[in-house]
Amino acid sequence: MAKGSTSIVIFGATGDLTQRKLLPALFNLRCKGHLSANTNILGFSRTPYSDEEFRQVMRKGTQEFGDLAVHEDEWDAFAQDLYYISGDLGKPEDFIRLGQRLDELEGDAYPHDRLFYLSVAPRLYETAVKNLGASGLAQEDGGWRRVVIEKPFGRDFASAQALNGVVHQVFNEGQVYRIDHYLGKETVQNLLVFRFANAIFEPVWNRNYVDNVQITVAEEVDVGDRAGYYDQSGVLRDMIQNHLLQLLTMVAMEPPSAVDADALRNRKVDVLKAIRRWTPDEVNQHAVSGQYRGYLDEKGVRPGSTTPTYAALRLYIDNWRWHGVPFYLRSGKAMAEKISEVVIQFQSPPHVMFSLGPGQKLTSNVLSICLQPDEGTHLMFEAKVPGQGMETRSVDMEFHYESSFESQVIPEAYERLLQDALEGDATLFIRGDHIEEAWRIIDPVLDTWGNSAAPPVHIYEPGAWGPKAADEFLSQDGRRWLQVCGVHGEGHA
Ligand code: BG6
Repeated sequence: MAKGSTSIVIFGATGDLTQRKLLPALFNLRCKGHLSANTNILGFSRTPYSDEEFRQVMRKGTQEFGDLAVHEDEWDAFAQDLYYISGDLGKPEDFIRLGQRLDELEGDAYPHDRLFYLSVAPRLYETAVKNLGASGLAQEDGGWRRVVIEKPFGRDFASAQALNGVVHQVFNEGQVYRIDHYLGKETVQNLLVFRFANAIFEPVWNRNYVDNVQITVAEEVDVGDRAGYYDQSGVLRDMIQNHLLQLLTMVAMEPPSAVDADALRNRKVDVLKAIRRWTPDEVNQHAVSGQYRGYLDEKGVRPGSTTPTYAALRLYIDNWRWHGVPFYLRSGKAMAEKISEVVIQFQSPPHVMFSLGPGQKLTSNVLSICLQPDEGTHLMFEAKVPGQGMETRSVDMEFHYESSFESQVIPEAYERLLQDALEGDATLFIRGDHIEEAWRIIDPVLDTWGNSAAPPVHIYEPGAWGPKAADEFLSQDGRRWLQVCGVHGEGHA
């Protein structure tokens, strides 16, 4: 009986993502023994490369962005499985040629499974999917067929719904793997383990104990050479609708009955459905936009653009667990530090029996889950300062991946996600209904900020923690932004 094969077709193979992330991840999977020997990786793009030229370009990418230096001796064997076909996504005949090339590469392998990866401009998703359908390449004859679709999936609810419609004409939902690379991050998956493999946190994980939740994804980099894309998207579409709402659902969801694609994703969608939708009037009370000074001078930004590079949102989840607990989300470019962190601030003790100094308050307990860069967890609690009296101070009980798992390198998000897609595990991918619900939450903010009557975007200095208005936004609630990760307990105001 013939041996099976797997073909990975990367559309947009000469693009940035392929060189920076996909090929380095596939190479690492091979080096770790997770990619079977009978795997063909076939690049598809318009540039007229030969197989050999493609291999050279991918080698350079893996050298610059991956672990080529560590496993140099394994490259040549890996490169033998890299192939290239030049083609145009808009031309049905090029899909026929693609099918022929796949047939040649696979020979009489059985089954011959195929993963189609759309690493192309989002406006081309529909065309690519339609042509995969029309050419018969999506049909599961002789093996499985799956499609991986990068973010952003749609620009708003209506376009995401329309795109889901097109995708579902060709693939059934079980064949569709919509990527949010945050779900591939080890520390994001650890949110599940932290919550559901420990018995001590779950009892306090609710409105009776939690005062507020803060989710920060701050980036030090500015838009760089991506302004052409970014100016059309802004932080709401680029980060909040996907990465931050993913984090929120992981923090807020009910325990799923199992870690499998249906159970987990059902619970996440439940959270999104329970998030209160702001009316346009309410958006201005519950959201703050910002733009870093100098953004308008970036190449590719439209003159006078009001695209926000920073946003802070206050969301409420109207269910039994979270009713009344604000979830503050913020993300921005050109900020002081690169930090992704989830902070759970617990309620203050109901009665303080220690005499505190004038103006002193007990600091309530804070749990910080540091997603990156210093991956780990911190639990801040009060301790008695040695000496007379009962003076207290916050101290930090901490766990760091680096020291606890010394020899284990945290893998790149794309490694995990590519392997899962190849194994048919969709748990860490986004289901169609999740995407649509997430847009329903963000749409009113997009509409309000896109309206000509919108209040002006707040300007912040590059290297700051966003605009002052975002600090005032929390101080109105008697709170402040907390940062534990990276500063060991020194919250910034
Ligand atoms: C991407 C956004 O999805 O995530 C980028 O398009 C952003 O703008 C990036 O820089 C951040 O990812 P990470 O893994 O560096 O936090």
